[in-house]
Amino acid sequence: MKIKSLGFIGGGRVTGIILEGLDRKDKRPERVFVSETNPEVLSKLAGRFPKIKTSSGDVKDPAEAVMVFIALHPPAVMARLESIKGHLKKDAIVVSLAPKLSIAQISAGLGGFNRIVRMIPNAPSVINKGFNPIAFSPAFSGDEKKEIRKFFEVLGDCPEVREENLEAYAILTAMGPTYLWFQIEELKALGLSFGLSAKETEKALSKMVKGTVKTLFQSQRTPAEVMDLVPLKPIGEDEEAIRTIYRTKLKGLYAKLKG
Ligand SMILES: NC(=O)c1ccc[n+]([C@@H]2O[C@H](COP(=O)([O-])OP(=O)(O)OC[C@H]3O[C@@H](n4cnc5c(N)ncnc54)[C@H](OP(=O)(O)O)[C@@H]3O)[C@@H](O)[C@H]2O)c1
Repeated sequence: MKIKSLGFIGGGRVTGIILEGLDRKDKRPERVFVSETNPEVLSKLAGRFPKIKTSSGDVKDPAEAVMVFIALHPPAVMARLESIKGHLKKDAIVVSLAPKLSIAQISAGLGGFNRIVRMIPNAPSVINKGFNPIAFSPAFSGDEKKEIRKFFEVLGDCPEVREENLEAYAILTAMGPTYLWFQIEELKALGLSFGLSAKETEKALSKMVKGTVKTLFQSQRTPAEVMDLVPLKPIGEDEEAIRTIYRTKLKGLYAKLKG
């Protein structure tokens, strides 16, 4: 099995992330087809990746590729499967990037086609630093799984996980950057306002974030002991409110994805 063509149904953010990650390592197959219904999104993507072939809704070309990505939000997926199923090659690989919809549901929507992979990508894949858990339908041999994972490892880590855990990863690793990026950006703005250069600020924050995570998970201390390493907590009085936001919003979202 050689992954020599890619098709994307949906040409939004995650499609751009995957294509850029592949490009950075010169691993993008020559033939890439994207079907995207939003004209603005489509022309932006075509501008970024001039060699890809795009269509504004016709799924024939992308659905006939060796690897066919379903890069749509869950509510749009099932309706689109009907138009894809007649075009799939019998040894194609369908990769759904959406949470919530199971391999069994996708297979049913594709009239029983069963070569289905689900992956929950994370945005740092754009610079090949992703963490992209993957689950396979039983249709794949061990060698095929190895080859598919090798293809995705260009984007970062690609551990095989149990399918029922993918929604947990959607909350932790796919959406995770959105909980942290704006806070790091705020700290950077503060660093600049205090007179540090952008380079100094970015270096300090990169090291601080990396060390912070390692200390929490690898210092053989309890979380309370780790947090007690710093006595002064200037935003500590808001901590409980922030913890509550995590517990309510993200638990609620997880329940919705699992519902
Ligand atoms: N971005 C991430 O980091 C990330 C991470 C993990 C998983 N995912 C998953 O990947 C999927 C896509 O996410 P995304 O971030 O790429 O979203 P996005 O940027 O909103 O892109 C989805 C695109 O698909 C278009 N579309 C809607 N219906 C279509 C159809 N029938 N045929 C072709 N295109 C259609 C949408 O157009 P309109 O806007 O006009 O509807 C939109 O431009 C979602 O299931 C998401 O949960 C994304």
